[in-house]
Amino acid sequence: MNVVSVKDYQELSEYTCNEIERVVRSTPHSVLGLATGGTPLGTYREMINGFKERNVDYRHVTTFNLDEYIGLGRDHPQSYYTYMMNNLFKHINVSPENIHIPNGSAEEMDSECLRYERLIEEIGPPDLQILGIGSNGHIGFNEPGTSITSETHIVELAESTRKANARYFSSLDEVPQHAITMGIQSILKSKRILLLASGSHKAKAVKTLLECLPDEQFPASVLKGHGDVTLVVDESAGG
Ligand code: PGA
Repeated sequence: MNVVSVKDYQELSEYTCNEIERVVRSTPHSVLGLATGGTPLGTYREMINGFKERNVDYRHVTTFNLDEYIGLGRDHPQSYYTYMMNNLFKHINVSPENIHIPNGSAEEMDSECLRYERLIEEIGPPDLQILGIGSNGHIGFNEPGTSITSETHIVELAESTRKANARYFSSLDEVPQHAITMGIQSILKSKRILLLASGSHKAKAVKTLLECLPDEQFPASVLKGHGDVTLVVDESAGG
């Protein structure tokens, strides 16, 4: 695993945006794997600036998002669909038909998992996948113990994940119990991965990641088995 240490959140966001823009400029039909949560918000802000000020063109780009809550509905203010629209997609020229986010309101969730994984196979895999890291080491919504062979699947969210995400809801009770997520195996199909960690609340996870052997009990560590992963970490997260 390569490590890029940056000063702070702004530098992390600029570095990540720069890597994305490099991929998009060199391969106009590139496939991007995108994440939600607090960490990529700065990257998306920089991408919007790049679209407006540096003429970065997303017209032919395809995107895959990692995960979605089950039971919120796509127009719910806290759905990841809404997050992606508000924080990135409606501000750049990506084509709506090229945007892929798991459907957390599908009638048959098992079929939805298969459909999504097939789509990744057919159109993907991402040239570049952006990932955050949970304090318990989760990537996407792959909680500790998730099999390295997992593809897109339904998960029960860990209590620590629901608590971490409760800040976006009016109470913990409103945070969904389940989600649909690309699996570890699906994520490992990406050609290149940037794992982002910012802030002192991520320092323990970063330390564990750097010190441990690949272990399903700490999902981010299995990325060590992938040939092209870069941890982008700022000083407060231990970089
Ligand atoms: P965060 O979440 O970016 O909001 O810290 C990362 C994660 O839990 O995967």
